[in-house]
Amino acid sequence: MSKSILIAGNWKMNKTWLETQEFIETIHQNKIVNETKAHVAICIPFPYLLSAKNTLLESPIKIGAQNVSNKEKGAYTGEVSASQLKSIAVDYVIIGHSERRSYYGETDALVNEKIKITLQNNLIPIFCIGETLAEREEEREFDVVRNQIEFGLADIKADELANVVIAYEPVWAIGTGKTATSAQAQEIHQFIRSLIAELYSKDVAKGILILYGGSMNAGNARELLSQPDINGGLIGGASLQVSDFVSIIEQAGG
Ligand code: PGA
Repeated sequence: MSKSILIAGNWKMNKTWLETQEFIETIHQNKIVNETKAHVAICIPFPYLLSAKNTLLESPIKIGAQNVSNKEKGAYTGEVSASQLKSIAVDYVIIGHSERRSYYGETDALVNEKIKITLQNNLIPIFCIGETLAEREEEREFDVVRNQIEFGLADIKADELANVVIAYEPVWAIGTGKTATSAQAQEIHQFIRSLIAELYSKDVAKGILILYGGSMNAGNARELLSQPDINGGLIGGASLQVSDFVSIIEQAGG
């Protein structure tokens, strides 16, 4: 596979510390993961980041957080800053996940602030966008995605965008077992790439990684990843078992 691929696991609020250690030790030794051409990341709960990073220092597996503060530092109880994540060598940060947008009221403006502060601290944001079921039923998916991109990436320059990963995650496909068909996903991915070309340039659009997320699993990954504008996956449920996750990585890197 010649295109660059990123397979990122999103554990959400799952796993105890013991389960985490077991997962990390197992995947660390895995031959397929150590030899794949795909880029691999696991986005895990905050308390486990430092230890996971230390175990995986020599590994190709990168570490990601699932959220970050929009503030630099100071009196923001409960928040974790981008510079704190950088100081423990975290690589990626998921920003604007639909669960954060819907359960914690994150707006496009807040998402934009988080992307900016993440980039300022030399971390790679995985910027999530995607329409709800109602929006798709009203045939508004292209407008929704356009808005999320225009507001989410406001004031972000072309050279900064080279360090942003976009994840298209139709909300109706997240955790539901209902995947977008490869044709539905490709259609939106192509639209996102053409929008980036319009807002930035063809070169920037060509280089940007656009991941698909929403019930991607070992059974459907190959088909989704074979689409020309799909550069990888953001994987929730199927990233929790080493065997499932490795199977997706194997399909991505072959
Ligand atoms: P899922 O989650 O793979 O369990 O659908 C994907 C995500 O929310 O990032």
